[in-house]
Formats: sequence, structure tokens, C-alpha cells
Amino acid sequence: MMSSFLLGIDVSTTATKALLIDERGAVVAVVATEYPFETPHPLWSEQAASLFWDGTTHSIRGVLEKSRINPKDIAAIGLTGQMHGATLLDAHGEPLRPCILWNDQRTQKQCDEITARLGAERVLQLTGNPVLTGFTAPKILWVRENEPEVYRRVAKILLPKDYARYKLTGEFFSDVSDSSGTSLFDVGQRAWSEEMLRALDIPRAWMPEVTESPVVSAKISADAARATGLIEGTPVVGGGGDQAAGAIGTGIVRSGIVSATLGTSGVVFAQSDEYRIEPQGRLHAFCHAAPGKWHLMGVMLSAAGSFRWYRDALGAHEKAIAAETNQDAYDVLTRAAGTAPAGCEGLLFLPYLTGERTPYPDPNARGAFVGLTVRHTKAHLTRAVLEGVSYGLRDSLELMRALGITPTQVRASGGGARSALWRQILADVFDAEIVTVNVTEGAAYGAALLAGVGAGVYRDVESACDAVIQTTSRDQPSDARSIYAEYYPRYRALYPALIAEFDALARVVADFRSLQDL
Ligand code: XUL
Repeated sequence: MMSSFLLGIDVSTTATKALLIDERGAVVAVVATEYPFETPHPLWSEQAASLFWDGTTHSIRGVLEKSRINPKDIAAIGLTGQMHGATLLDAHGEPLRPCILWNDQRTQKQCDEITARLGAERVLQLTGNPVLTGFTAPKILWVRENEPEVYRRVAKILLPKDYARYKLTGEFFSDVSDSSGTSLFDVGQRAWSEEMLRALDIPRAWMPEVTESPVVSAKISADAARATGLIEGTPVVGGGGDQAAGAIGTGIVRSGIVSATLGTSGVVFAQSDEYRIEPQGRLHAFCHAAPGKWHLMGVMLSAAGSFRWYRDALGAHEKAIAAETNQDAYDVLTRAAGTAPAGCEGLLFLPYLTGERTPYPDPNARGAFVGLTVRHTKAHLTRAVLEGVSYGLRDSLELMRALGITPTQVRASGGGARSALWRQILADVFDAEIVTVNVTEGAAYGAALLAGVGAGVYRDVESACDAVIQTTSRDQPSDARSIYAEYYPRYRALYPALIAEFDALARVVADFRSLQDL
């Protein structure tokens, strides 16, 4: 039997990764091409679109070389990538300026204008979400106001992975999950919102056609075949935004299964068989990469990032021990943390070290230890960090529970999920089973599975996940859950109690900064 392979390509903020899997889901080769992003002004975050294409060609050539497969045996390709970025192209398909990225924060004025023009309620009805600074539409308005000579020449607007698709196929296409984060997409109807586009005076012709994620939308062009070593005519499916594709890669395609990702940021992700929105827009409501499904998502900005900060700021001693004994400093810290009791005898940690997004979209929010006494040791401090991040993720889970989503199982992934102690704390704080799965390649793996559905290797997205994703560990809630049930409301009460002080602190810091600049 001729074997076929599936290629997933992830155009992320730090690298473009190409991942080749076989039909059984085994990873054959992975190559990532790294690149930087620029912050030319405070709050700005940009990247040349040429990096997406150079990264794509370099990584594809790399996996073909490494795997030594015949490119004829690649049944289909799936694309995924960083969401929300605005790549503006002229009539010849040339980028007009660097892509403005998802973590760019320059557009608060444009967000306020859009919300004032349509009303917050109508924006939520039309797009399922409030307009946030990271989303695409306010970036387009920013360019119109600040770079009119660029704006005059715009002919197409693409998300980062869709620019890579354009270069690979010559076609302008997107998929429903990635388009959901533009503030221009009717997430309920899975189509561009004519009303949003009209209200913001953005021509419909600038936006690409949109397909469901596993549907073949285009084929590798002759030019791209020459640039990458792929075969002309290889099918390319719609693919998905990085969070939706990542969720396919961990099997989040059925009700009751939720994912919690403990990366630098923390994401709680639930799939939903029907379209529903959080009444105040506190959870992102996007189309899922599985046809006819949606997803709800809460994003915490410093999850494992809080633990990294803690290790770097306060863990010099553990780093030294780790270096001497050939261990990981995180393991040295968590082993000691395991000796402190659940709840840390009333010591709480707020993880808002880089502001917050869910449930409090507040750039001024700050971290804190609250409840210190002379009884507390470093083991308590460490454990409090792990518990504080877990309480913060539970905030997103509670918003989901209020919408009728009952998590029976939470799939943990990301660097933090490697810690058995952290997984047990999550199980107890969430009061749900925590499992880990065999697939750890994230969004690129999900994109490859979507390609497999498009190529007919799998019947549908659910069967693709069932065929390849297996559970590798399970942690059940322990008696400690009753302790966390008492402490969680105390954690919840802290942000509302401190918000005025966070704002006041931000003003004082800004005043000192401007004095220093004089
Ligand atoms: C999703 C989000 C990030 C970016 C970059 O809403 O902002 O996941 O896609 O990874």
C-alpha cells in the first residue's frame, strides 16, 4: 500500500514550523524556522510578512530533506498560525507595510470608536465578541487614520497563515476559526458580517473567501512547488487559528472535554455544539475548526509565565542546586512546594504580572502576594504561585460553567502541565479530572489532522482525533478540593478590592516615567 503523509504548517509569532505526520498520526519530521518581531514604538508589535513566507519555504524544504519522503506522497497540507494579525496587500499581492500582530496594543482609540459607532450590544450581537485592541478591524482603522498613503493602496487584507497560503497557492482564502478574531466576522452565521464591514467602510472585496477548516480551498501553485519542493496541485485545506487548531491537536471536539494550556499565557478552551456568547463578552466566542461547532476561550496572560518570573526573580538558590545536580530548577522548586499544605495557610498569589485579559481585560492589573505571615516559607510562596495561576484559570472555567458547559475532563498541556504537583492542584481547584495526551506538537499537529480530513484519510475531525490521540496520565480531585473551595472565593475577592489601587499605581508610575523623560 502506498503510504500518504500529511503536512501541518504553523505560522507563529516566533517561528514557522512544518510538521509531517503519517496516516497513523506518528510524527515523521518537524522543522521550525525562527524569526524576531519588532516593537518600533511602545505598545506596537509588528513583523514583516516576508518572514512568514521565508519561514514556510525554509521549513517545508527542511522536513522534506529530513524525512526523505517523496513529496508526491503528501496527501494534503493544513495551515495554522498566530491569529488577528493585519497583513495589508496592494493590487499585486505585495505587502504594503509590516503585519500588525495579535499582541499589538496601539488601537484602544479605534476600539472605542467602533464600539461607540455601533454600540457595545450590537458589536457583541454581530461578532460574538467585544472589539479588542489585538483584533484585526481596529488595526485597519488605525492604518486609515495614521498611514493614509498606505491605506489608499490596500486591495486585500489577510491573516498571517492566509498570507502563507496566498504565496503557496496564489489564492485568497481564510477559514472560519481564524476569521472569527477579526471583529468583522459573523461568528454565529460563519460568514463575513456585511453590517460590520459597511459600518466601518471596509470593502467586502478586500476580505478573502472563507471555508470550513478541513475543506480543500486551494492547490500548490507551480511557483510555490519550485520554491518549496512540494508537488504542484497538492491540496491545501482551510486550516485554523492557532488556538482552534491546537485544540484539534489535543482532541477538544466533544462537549464536556475542556483544555487548559499552561504556556507563558494560559488558555481555557471549550468546544460548543451550539453558538453561545458570554453575555458581557468576557470569553472569546469563535467558530471551531470542526465544522458546525464553536468554541469559547478564556486567555490568562501570565500562567507558566508567572512561574518563570518567580524562578528567575527568587529561585537563584534552586537554580544553583539544579545546575550542581543536573536537575531542572522548576523540579527543585515544585518538590519543595509539595511540602507546603494545600491553600498555603492563607497565602494567595495574584498572577496579573503582565496585566490581564480574562476575566478582567485590564492592562493596569498587577501581581501580588496577599496573606503573608512569619510562618510562611519559600515552599509556601512557590506553591501559592501554582495555586494562584490555577485559581485564575478557574475564573474562565466558571464563566463557561455559567453558560451551561459542564467540564467532565480537562486536558492539560503546555510546559506547566509537566509538573505532577501542578496537575493535582488544577484537578483540586477545578474539581475535575485532569488528563494529559500523547500529542504535544500543538497547532501544527491539529492543522495536519485537518489536512487528513480534507484528503479523505479520516472521515471527519472527530474520527481523526479518536484515531490518533490517547490519554497518557490522569489525575483525580483529592480531598484538598474542599480546602480550595474555601480559598477560591477569597482569591476572587482580591481583584475587585485592588482595582482602584492598580489604576492609582499606574498613574504614579506613568508620572515618574514622564519626569525621568524630561
Ligand atoms: C488568540 C491569541 C493568540 C494568538 C497568538 O486569541 O491571541 O493565541 O493567536 O498565538
